Amino acid sequence: MTEHVKREISDGVMTLTLQRPEKKNALSGAMYDALSDAVRQADVDASVRVVLFQGDGDSFTAGNDLADFAHQAGAENSAESPVHRFIEAIINASKPLVAAVHGNAVGIGTTMLLHFDLVYLADNARLITPFVRLALVPEAASSRLLPLRIGHVRAYAMLALGEPMEAAAALACGLANGVVPQGELRKKARDAALALSKLPGGSLSQSKRLMRDLQRITAQAAEEEQLFKERLKTAEAREAFAAFAERRPPNFAKLPI
Ligand code: COA
Repeated sequence: MTEHVKREISDGVMTLTLQRPEKKNALSGAMYDALSDAVRQADVDASVRVVLFQGDGDSFTAGNDLADFAHQAGAENSAESPVHRFIEAIINASKPLVAAVHGNAVGIGTTMLLHFDLVYLADNARLITPFVRLALVPEAASSRLLPLRIGHVRAYAMLALGEPMEAAAALACGLANGVVPQGELRKKARDAALALSKLPGGSLSQSKRLMRDLQRITAQAAEEEQLFKERLKTAEAREAFAAFAERRPPNFAKLPI
């Protein structure tokens, strides 16, 4: 466990709280590992019936730690990276996943939601997937699941232009179950998790499996991951990460395509 992820179990609900507010809950390797371990534990722990994700501070999460990306760009990647394990864990989770999302949900902060069963947004939530702006490609099977959910052109605007999706629009196009004032978000999500915890768990797991094309999702995530790793090593990605670190706009025009 890392001090940046709090894990609590009560009344059948495992609550995972991201606690790195000074970095907008950007996910480090240790945080991914803590989340993956928790989701896997939930699947085999009879005292857990539902897993609930939430974040402290003003953002749900700023996504993958960009310093880690910059570091990975120069290193050999192992197949079993923390982000790989996390994506695998949420793809394969058999118990219900519920999210309470406020503020910015960037990158995997949004793509993970495509694997959640109930999603509640605070009215200030913004879903942002700036993969192409970072010279990367979408991950967590989002290149398939997002167009399926909201249609190609809206998904393209999010994934390619990095256009933020505000809470109300996200609700309207099926990315969330509800939008509530921020002060009511945690209660709304917890009440939903508690309602799920009272349902027959075997029936819930089987229904979830029937509702998702696990084989297709796994194959898409694997194809994305291969390209993503290649892209991390490109001059375009180096420029994107350097620009973030130096707080300046990137300049891709000088780079070969
Ligand atoms: N990785 C590492 N550090 C991050 C981060 C990330 N993904 N997102 C934010 N931070 C850090 C900033 O570097 C800053 O650190 P510092 O105080 O030591 O300089 C701190 O968190 C606050 O971020 P800041 O950018 O000042 O906050 P903001 O409110 O102006 O903007 C965001 C918030 C989330 C919109 C903005 O930080 C952002 O765009 N982050 C990058 C998101 C991203 O591209 N993620 C990867 C997706 S694949």
